[in-house]
Amino acid sequence: MDDEDLDYRQFVVAVEGKEIIGFGRIRPHKEVYELGCVGVVENRRNQGIGKMIVEHLINIFSSDDVYITTDLIEYFKRFGFRMIENGPVELVEKLKRVCKSKCREGVVVMVYKKTK
Ligand SMILES: CC(C)(COP(=O)(O)OP(=O)(O)OC[C@H]1O[C@@H](n2cnc3c(N)ncnc32)[C@H](O)[C@@H]1OP(=O)(O)O)[C@@H](O)C(=O)NCCC(=O)NCCS
Repeated sequence: MDDEDLDYRQFVVAVEGKEIIGFGRIRPHKEVYELGCVGVVENRRNQGIGKMIVEHLINIFSSDDVYITTDLIEYFKRFGFRMIENGPVELVEKLKRVCKSKCREGVVVMVYKKTK
């Protein structure tokens, strides 16, 4: 996961009792915002928690263009994200930096347009 420029104010968490069972992040860059770091604890996956987090982050996003860098292309297509060839330069640069050491194969830039 992208651990650059972390700040707790960028995160939302899904909580059950005292446990955090999921989380997601809106990372501000200079020109664009990126939805990222979506994760759900293993024993609570496939119960709609990831969907709830992604939809919430889209709703509170500060810009109409919601970018994500991900290898889970089919998962994010369900929300209406589509792949783009030439993503914003700062996201392409980020991928080069972060993926040098710790990305899974097949990470792409996707965008969801809030105004369609
Ligand atoms: C990806 C992730 C956040 C999804 O959260 P979740 O709460 O399990 O997902 P939801 O309950 O919202 O959605 C479940 C549906 O998505 C599908 N799905 C789950 N993971 C998927 C994947 N990796 N690729 C494609 N589809 C996937 C499931 O098959 C299920 O489909 P169904 O509704 O037809 O049964 C979760 O699997 C996770 O934490 N993965 C590890 C971290 C990660 O890779 N995060 C993405 C970084 S960009």
